[in-house]
Order: sequence, then structure tokens, then C-alpha cells
Amino acid sequence: MKKVITYGTFDLLHQGHINLLRRAKALGDWLIVGVTTDKFDIERGKMNSYNNLMERIEAVRSTGYADQIVIEEYKGQKIDDIQKYGVDIFAIGSDWEGYFDYLKEYCEVVYLPRTEGISSTLLRGERPSVKVGILAPDDVKSSFIREAGVVNSIEIESDPDACDALFVASPADLHYQQVKEALEKGKHVLCETPIAFTTKESEELFAIADRKKLVLMLSDKTAYCPAFGHLVSLLKSGAIGEIMDVSVSGPNGSMSEDAGIALLPIFKLLGTDYRDVSFFTRMADGKDIFTKGILRYDKGIATFKVGPGAKSEGNMVISGTKGYALVPAPWWRTDYFEIRYDDRNLDKKCFYPFVGDGFRYEIKDFVSAILRSSFQKILRREMLGMADVLERYLLGKNVYHL
Ligand code: CTP
Repeated sequence: MKKVITYGTFDLLHQGHINLLRRAKALGDWLIVGVTTDKFDIERGKMNSYNNLMERIEAVRSTGYADQIVIEEYKGQKIDDIQKYGVDIFAIGSDWEGYFDYLKEYCEVVYLPRTEGISSTLLRGERPSVKVGILAPDDVKSSFIREAGVVNSIEIESDPDACDALFVASPADLHYQQVKEALEKGKHVLCETPIAFTTKESEELFAIADRKKLVLMLSDKTAYCPAFGHLVSLLKSGAIGEIMDVSVSGPNGSMSEDAGIALLPIFKLLGTDYRDVSFFTRMADGKDIFTKGILRYDKGIATFKVGPGAKSEGNMVISGTKGYALVPAPWWRTDYFEIRYDDRNLDKKCFYPFVGDGFRYEIKDFVSAILRSSFQKILRREMLGMADVLERYLLGKNVYHL
């Protein structure tokens, strides 16, 4: 029996895919189709698929040409698959001409003619997209535009009246007013932390968003990147036992700029139901240059330190009854962490992609929250908790000056 294998993303299945699969099948007796995982696509810089993995597998199955469907998860898997399944022919569209010649060492390689005039990219371009305006300093703006280029269903709009949504990364004291105005005008908002300096103002913004059925999402690269998401789910599933202590160091902005970022892992892991919070802070020229915050929970404790005034290793350590997690610096843009136990044989090192400068993950989630009402990774109570901590600090509640 002659076995043929081919691979692809097969997003928004189209005639080009169908022709390719038919031709590949005709080369032998058994066709194996490798469908790339979303994670693998992201690793190779492609995160604009419209259909998720299950939808894409179903689409390939529905063509009736695949005798077997496998999932392509990592670079180098093609060689492993060819050997594992005893493949005779590797087939792929002619847009890859020459690229896979290295597989000739393992089997025959055939480049099949590509169907002209159709592609997933073209079809994605025809779908509705969100027009996003940007209120940010030039460097952040250009990074946002660059990263938005790899996400589908988004266009950058320079006319503030013509946009459907706004990205706000202006100085923190302008956020509340700018977010409020944008929401009142019917625009979805992605805003850097904090969205406001008080709980009352934050609640007011959420009330407007709800009334107008708009997305109000917090911009925080950490929250949306793959490593952080998995760290939280792993630890919440009991990987280190009961969590007793979360110790967060950095980032280096002041309390009003970066407290939200530092509080995110604390709230994700210990919840927002803290008993009290105290602050130890050092001021210079009217600005907080160093602040250490301590949140006391019924069964745990969390500390964070922010500010440009004291240098430190920007890592995060989470202690549990059975083990601990270490996220090396800078923990807020992490692609790697370790889970450690007394028995070193059980230790785990976990690696994840963090592609580009990390904006793409939150841009993708923002667009999908608008177009598909998908789940938002930072919960509302977490955003309100951030505002509450900041408000207590600004009001001087339990603030000790050093
Ligand atoms: N293919 C084809 N003709 C097309 C489009 C794709 O023969 N018009 C082939 C590709 O060469 C590949 C397979 O279909 O062998 C899967 O391609 P995939 O990358 O999933 O589809 P594209 O439409 O090329 O996707 P994109 O636009 O995202 O690159």
C-alpha cells in the first residue's frame, strides 16, 4: 500500500485545499493529512487562523479524501511522521517548491500545482473586521500596528470618529476620561492598566460598557501570553498543592503605572478576596520610586514590589504546600517557568512561545471578544481589585513611608 502524507492549516477550507487533497490522494492508496495546531501556528508566527483546530480537522474530514488525520504540533514532526507511519510520498502545494527537499532523504517529495486565485488569507480578508484607533506614544503605537499585522480581522484606523474600537495607552491619569468618552461614543476599548484610579470610576466605566454592550478590556501583555495562562491553570489545578505565598518583583514602573500588572498573578492565584493590604513606600520629588505591597488572605499572603528606585531581580516565586513555581525575570513577559519539588526528579521545566513583543496575544483576544463575544482573560473582579488596591494606596490607607 502506497502511503501519502500532506500538511496544512486548512483554515476556512476552500477549493484550493480540496484540489490539493484530491491530487495528493490520487498519488497513492492511503492519505494522511497533518493539520497544524493553533499553538504550532503561533510558534511559526501565524496566529491569524479563523477556524480553531477542531473546526479545521472537521473541514478536512468533510472532504472525504483523508484516510487518516494527524495533528502537527512541532517543528521537525514531518520527519518523525514519515518514519512512524511508513510514508512513501510527501506531497505539498507548489508554493512550497524546494522548501521540503530535505525530506527526500526519507521519502519521495512531490510538489503539486497550487490552485490560482484562492487562499485562506484572501477569504479572511473578506470577513468583517474591527477598525481600531490608537491613543498611545509613538513607540507603543508602532509596536501595536506591527503586531496587529499578524492578527486577522483588524484594521488600524487613524480617523477617531471612524473607528469601532480604541486602544488606550496614554498616561494613566488620562485613562478614565478617554475610556469614558470612547465608550459614550459607542467604541469598544482596550486600555492599559489602570483603567481608572478608583473603584467607583472603574465601576462607572463598566456600567457604560454594559449598557452599550461594548467590550472594555484591560491591556496587559502578561495576561494574554501562553506561558502565564498555563502557569495559572497548572497551579490552580493543584500542581504545587495549596498556594500559600505569591511573591512578585517588578515591573519597574511606579504604583499608579504598574501595580495592576504586579497584582494580576496575585489575584489569579489567591483570588480578589484579600483581608487587607499594606504598603511600604519611598517617595522622591513627589513620586513613588519604590513600593512594597503586602496582601493578607485568610490562608495565604502575597507581596509585590514595584518602582524604578530599587533594583531587583524581576522574578516571581509561588509557594505551595507541595512545591513551588519559579518564573524567572522578567516574569511579566515570560516564555518559561519551572515547577520544583523536594524530589528533584519530579521537577518540570515548561517552555512556551512568546512571539513578537507580545501585543499580538491581547490584540487577538480583543478582536475575538468583539466579534465572537469570547471569554475575557482578565475578570472584572480582578480589574476592580486592581482599582481598589490603587485607590487605598492613593488615599494613604495603611501606607507607611520609608
Ligand atoms: N493550497 C493550494 N492552493 C491554494 C491554497 C493552498 O494548493 N490556492 C495548498 C497549499 O499549497 C498547501 C495546502 O493547500 O499544500 C494547505 O495550505 P494552507 O496553508 O492551509 O492554505 P492557504 O490558503 O495557502 O493559507 P494561507 O493563505 O493562510 O497561507
